[in-house]
Amino acid sequence: MPPSTLVALAIAALCVVMGFRSGVAELEGDFYEDSCPNASAIVRRVLEQAQQRDVRIGAKLIRLHFHDCFVQGCDGSILLVNAEGIASEQDARPNVNSTAGFEVVDDMKAALENACPGVVSCADILAIASQVAVSLAGGPSWEVELGRRDSRTANRDEANTAIPSPVDSLANMTSKFAAVGLDSTDLVALSGAHTFGRARCTTFSHRLYNFSGTGGPDPTLDSAFLETLRQICPQSGDGNTITNLDPSSPDSFDNNYFTNLRNNRGLLQTDQELFSGAVADTVSAVNRFAGSQSEFFDAFAKSMVKMGGIRPLTGSSGEIRANCKRVN
Ligand code: HEM
Ligand SMILES: *[C@@H]1O[C@H](CO)[C@@H](O)[C@H](O)[C@H]1NC(C)=O
Ligand SMILES: *[C@@H]1O[C@H](CO)[C@@H](O)[C@H](O)[C@H]1NC(C)=O
Ligand SMILES: *[C@@H]1O[C@H](CO)[C@@H](O)[C@H](O)[C@H]1NC(C)=O
Ligand SMILES: *[C@@H]1O[C@H](CO)[C@@H](O)[C@H](O)[C@H]1NC(C)=O
Repeated sequence: MPPSTLVALAIAALCVVMGFRSGVAELEGDFYEDSCPNASAIVRRVLEQAQQRDVRIGAKLIRLHFHDCFVQGCDGSILLVNAEGIASEQDARPNVNSTAGFEVVDDMKAALENACPGVVSCADILAIASQVAVSLAGGPSWEVELGRRDSRTANRDEANTAIPSPVDSLANMTSKFAAVGLDSTDLVALSGAHTFGRARCTTFSHRLYNFSGTGGPDPTLDSAFLETLRQICPQSGDGNTITNLDPSSPDSFDNNYFTNLRNNRGLLQTDQELFSGAVADTVSAVNRFAGSQSEFFDAFAKSMVKMGGIRPLTGSSGEIRANCKRVN
């Protein structure tokens, strides 16, 4: 074999290896251009209608996409309900009595099946809905990469271990993000999704009374904010009471989340740790995003595309579910 052929073969082999390594490359912005050109408009219409009944719906939907992608990739696995061979992820600790918006996903799926039967995956619905939710709330827009297929399996155990918990240390969060190929800038940018939506007292009340067995509150919590939160979440009150993740602008997608962190007004322990955890790169990212909304928006859009590219099923893997709750 002449040397030039060997070189060509080596390059071809390298391309194949690299192609297999990057899941993102297999998704495309115009994936439904021919098969369902109106897919995004349909998702948007259903979301706009749902938002008239529930201002929080956009926040619920982007969180579903996050919890989907962190567990066996962005494959719609979180949407599967308990069935023969399926231990629903909805019963995992991070999701139970917490994740919501499933009925709106079903409405989107029904509208899409009506327009283009058997074409648009449930995993892609979550990716499109996340982008629409953010832009409807005043945040950035981005081109959503599409072409994911739906899993035939769910993994409740992985949902219990892979999704960050609100009592994780910064090191725990960083390692959970690293496990899905996301770095500390992605961690800070994506945490900015806590600029809208709500959290239950049970997810942060440990900060208010006896933090880590100290007998006092979390020292990184602003004292006026502490008093407000103690009123919302009394010590033996209902842990399911909800409050705004971003008290300064609860329903808009802006960079106030980061300003809050600088003012010791992060709601979750895991929010405040990004700024108070003394890890230089997360602190500097918080400062950068607090100082420039457009830097936050650019970073958020990039990180959403990255998160949306976690281990998708493509080609002939998986299936296009007819009903997001069940395998075909
Ligand atoms: C960094 C680690 C993260 C932790 C520990 C975390 C934890 C939480 C917790 C505990 C809640 C409240 C749940 C409840 O009250 O039941 C929540 C809500 C929320 N999270 Fe996160 N989260 C993280 C990252 C993210 C990311 C990456 C996104 C999206 C890109 C996201 C989007 C949301 C949204 C929008 C809500 C409000 C949902 C609603 O109103 O129903 N979170 N998160
Ligand atoms: C696309 O969907 C939107 C929202 O449902 C609708 O208003 C519009 O007429 C649709 N366009 C086409 C070409 O079907
Ligand atoms: C689930 O949340 C609702 C309120 O949103 C509450 O009434 C109910 O008791 C909760 N269930 C559990 C098991 O915490
Ligand atoms: C968090 O990290 C600590 C120390 O690295 C480890 O022992 C612990 O198991 C981790 N916890 C979670 C929930 O990942
Ligand atoms: C706080 O928690 C620690 C450890 O769980 C406990 O020993 C202590 O008595 C508690 N303090 C108060 C004031 O409740």
